[in-house]
Amino acid sequence: MRNSTRSQVDPFIVMDVMEAARKAEEAGRHIIHMEVGQPGTGAPKQAMQALAGQLQQDALGYTVALGLPALRRRIAQLYGEWYNVDLNPERVIVTPGSSGAFLLSFTALFDSGDRVGIGAPGYPSYRQILKALGLTPVDIQTAPENRLQPVAADLVGQDLQGLMVASPANPTGTMLDHAAMRSLIDAARDVGASFISDEIYHGLEYEAKAVTALEITDDCYVINSFSKYFSMTGWRVGWMVVPEDHVRVVERIAQNMFICAPHASQVAALAAMECEEELQANLDVYKANRTLMIDGLKQAGFTNFAPPDGAFYVYADVSDLTDDSRAFAAEILEKAGVSVTPGLDFDPVRGGGTLRFSYARSTEDIQEGLARLTRFMADRGAAG
Ligand SMILES: Cc1ncc(COP(=O)(O)O)c(C=O)c1O
Repeated sequence: MRNSTRSQVDPFIVMDVMEAARKAEEAGRHIIHMEVGQPGTGAPKQAMQALAGQLQQDALGYTVALGLPALRRRIAQLYGEWYNVDLNPERVIVTPGSSGAFLLSFTALFDSGDRVGIGAPGYPSYRQILKALGLTPVDIQTAPENRLQPVAADLVGQDLQGLMVASPANPTGTMLDHAAMRSLIDAARDVGASFISDEIYHGLEYEAKAVTALEITDDCYVINSFSKYFSMTGWRVGWMVVPEDHVRVVERIAQNMFICAPHASQVAALAAMECEEELQANLDVYKANRTLMIDGLKQAGFTNFAPPDGAFYVYADVSDLTDDSRAFAAEILEKAGVSVTPGLDFDPVRGGGTLRFSYARSTEDIQEGLARLTRFMADRGAAG
């Protein structure tokens, strides 16, 4: 039996790295995980309590496709609390993670062959999901002077039907400020491209508050998730905000593709939104880790990176050390016992010379990881 050509997507290299780390652990080694893109913490305690209570009295069957009305209302309220944006809850659609929202948004907005701009480096699955849907991902090679975010000039002559941005971004952690976001929204509108903003790392920001595209325009799709700030990766629940006249279009696709996001996860997500204290405590850990990373990586000899504004990653240019980030990551795992992600996942062109370090785990792990990286680099320097 043949496979479709559009099914020929690339593997997520970080998964291969995780597997190599797992094998090393199985063989009895102690590995520090700086490759992971998820919190080490679980869902907030009250979220689990709320679900435990609900399990006693509810069969937790399908919800309506757009999500539990109370959750949609509570998400709309968050936009008032976080950004002072007055959002109609009818525009909020609960999805199976932001990954589910990508499928829904790309299907709702684009026709086969349409060209969608994505920043490189960027989250790898944008490219692969677009390909699998028969769409054409267009890599925008971002510049270090723009902190590896796309700018309006990058859209010229690209014949784009869509533009996808992420702020804070994975793998860089850099953000678009209000002016930069507005400039991209205007540029996308001028070339007739639909604007999608991936805001999954909102809430995890260190210097300034992240800007939502909804502060600037209603004519966009905004995608978010309970995976990162709310620390609920495995629960597979996220959301998207769409223009009013797109709700019914997305609803029909969601009914057919997913029926609904997991009911139990929606119950837990609603309660998680009241767990500010616990979530802020998680954020305090990332803050401490970020400071350690910025200093520690430089001391170790990884000096070329922009300090992250948000998320929990540092994306370092290591092109002075290697042009094969995959082999270099394997060497670091082997010799230092630290698992890191090669940049090739995020940027097929320049990623051979970059690494992503995650600081989503405990502060003790970060300290130990940095000590190991420092020893590794010193030994490498002495050997070479
Ligand atoms: C930028 C970005 N968007 C989306 C996702 C997918 O998240 P979810 O768990 O909501 O599907 C990730 C996961 O790491 C990510 O980094």
